[in-house]
Amino acid sequence: MEVVILPGSKQIASLAADAVEALLRRKPDAVLGLATGSTPLPVYVELAARHERAGLDFSRVRAFALDEYVGLPAGHPESYREVIAREFTARVNISPANVHVPDGAAADIPAACRAYEDAIRDAGGVDLQLLGVGTDGHIGFNEPGSSLASRTRIKTLIEQTRRDNARFFGSLADVPHHVLTQGLGTILDARHVILIATGAQKAQAVRDLAEGPVAAICAASVLQLHPHATILLDEAAASSLRLADYYRHSYDHKPAWQGL
Ligand code: F6R
Repeated sequence: MEVVILPGSKQIASLAADAVEALLRRKPDAVLGLATGSTPLPVYVELAARHERAGLDFSRVRAFALDEYVGLPAGHPESYREVIAREFTARVNISPANVHVPDGAAADIPAACRAYEDAIRDAGGVDLQLLGVGTDGHIGFNEPGSSLASRTRIKTLIEQTRRDNARFFGSLADVPHHVLTQGLGTILDARHVILIATGAQKAQAVRDLAEGPVAAICAASVLQLHPHATILLDEAAASSLRLADYYRHSYDHKPAWQGL
């Protein structure tokens, strides 16, 4: 796990976009794993700008969202299918047919989850997975207690997460209780994982995920088992880390050839 502490969201967005750009130049038909929520938005703005300015080409990219609410009507503005299109994929040239989101409206939820796993596998697996982290340490919507080997399935949101996400819905009562989410095992299969955390409200989750034990109580700690996990933090999110000086020192002295 590589922890990189940067001054703010702008620098984080630029570095994450560099990783996406390098991947697309190497592999134009790469498979991207996309997170929603507010944290990755500056990355999507930066990628859309690079598409606009420099023709960064997404025409052959396939994309898989991490998760989706269960029970929102089709076209609901806060469904992640709508959010990911509005915030990112409609602003670059990814074909809508290549953007996959778990089907939270499926009549047969277990079958929809199996189909999602199959679709990721048939695409050749995720090359680069972007992640945010919840204040309770969730990635995707793998809440505390999630199996570290879990696959795409239905989960019940913890009330803290519903409260955190009420800002998108206007009222807590409108936040669904259930979601479909890629599992922790699914996320671990991605070839490179970039988790971004910004703001002091994420500091405890960041400490738990990077420096705590690997344990289901902090689902994101499973990334300690990933061979290529990059954690991009602003100063506030990094403020509780014991080894912050070591992470800074390592990044400052990183061999130039290594990249992220
Ligand atoms: C959303 C997702 C979640 C969010 C997390 C943080 O697709 O997978 O794990 O990344 O809830 O949300 P924000 O970025 O809004 O703080």
